[in-house]
Amino acid sequence: MLSVSLNLFKRLELMTKTVSGFSKLTKQEKINWLTKTFFADAEAAKKTLKKYWNDDVELQQLHDEFIENTVSNFYLPYGVAPNFKINGRNYVIPMAVEESSVVAAASLVAKFWSTRGGFNAEVISTTKIGHVHFMFDGNFAELENYFKQVKSKLLEATESITKNMRKRGGGILDIELRNKTEKLNNYYQLYVSFDTKDSMGANFINSCLEEVARTFRKEGIEIVMSILSNYIPDCLVKAEVSCKIEDLGENGQEFAQKFYQAVQIANVEPYRAVTHNKGIMNGIDAVVLATGNDFRAVEAGAHAYASKDGQYKSLTNCLIEDDIFKFWIEIPLALGTVGGLTALHPLAKLSLELLQKPSAKDLMQIVAVAGLAQNFAALRALVTTGIQEGHMKMHLQNILNQLGASENEKKQLIEHFKKRSVTHTAVVEEFDKIRIQ
Ligand code: MEV
Repeated sequence: MLSVSLNLFKRLELMTKTVSGFSKLTKQEKINWLTKTFFADAEAAKKTLKKYWNDDVELQQLHDEFIENTVSNFYLPYGVAPNFKINGRNYVIPMAVEESSVVAAASLVAKFWSTRGGFNAEVISTTKIGHVHFMFDGNFAELENYFKQVKSKLLEATESITKNMRKRGGGILDIELRNKTEKLNNYYQLYVSFDTKDSMGANFINSCLEEVARTFRKEGIEIVMSILSNYIPDCLVKAEVSCKIEDLGENGQEFAQKFYQAVQIANVEPYRAVTHNKGIMNGIDAVVLATGNDFRAVEAGAHAYASKDGQYKSLTNCLIEDDIFKFWIEIPLALGTVGGLTALHPLAKLSLELLQKPSAKDLMQIVAVAGLAQNFAALRALVTTGIQEGHMKMHLQNILNQLGASENEKKQLIEHFKKRSVTHTAVVEEFDKIRIQ
């Protein structure tokens, strides 16, 4: 049924009103309300939303049910970067990302290092952390005593939750009482450490913490909240590449030196470090997303780790020693290869199969390598040609699509810009010339 677009005056009036019971409406009713209220052309808006529905009704329903109030799907390109050699094994890495140059850069760098020994990676630690944050206005010795008495009960209380995880070798590692009153009056925490094996473990950790808090509760103890921390400095992975400077190619010495300086700049200059690390996260987030993991958690943890010394710094490091160039990343990553979206999203499942069914530790290594590769690509471009050349070549396709170029026009223009610099103005000018002909 066609719904008539309302005039602007009517729409402005509707926009000022809150909507109640929205989540209870059917998907179609939600779309009707949205499009009628916010869009000058309601039918066009509806069409756009529906264009992205999947014809496979079951698949669409699966996506509808991931969140509340789903009205459409938001696509990101899903690309693959081949030729990654990690610890002697070959990988094709899946990446979900919209930025034009990311997959191309990853592929180039993977090929480059595949002939120079590939990437080496190792997981340093896998401990995750959660807290029961509480207030206590009393004697610390008494609190400590109470904690000692009740500690085994806290562990017992979580047994039904931790049963399966314990079977897999994980679970709660320890519970400590921490006195934080120097930072905030009456503030204490139960500091709980976990090993969540192949799962990211957010639900597991939070369920355990809430159970611990329930059992710990007593008069005088005011529980404020129980929640995992996305700061996981003890869930750490390291990935590195190294080769002789002469193997870096023409002008290897000069390149290595400039590359080294670029990393040092990111280590001392937070303005640069943020952009430097953003480039790393281009690679990391793309793989994290493609494998159905939580990129917000990874982002938050990574940037906190970059500030661990009291100043925001580079997540990568570089060393030139005895004619050897060495470049590495150390980053905390909370990832899962079982549970959550990894088991539900068909493309996440496919990604994990493409990665040869990695354990969470394997995936930590792969993701760290993707970040290191992306940083290598960015710094290599920055200290040589600058990034715009490669970036704009990749962006050319987007500009041509924006201009509505036909396949034939695209072919001609891509050929034309092979040997010329791509700028938005230059592309528009050349496009106009071709159109007129
Ligand atoms: C762009 O998305 C990322 C870069 O700015 C990263 C960097 O400057 O290192 C190229």
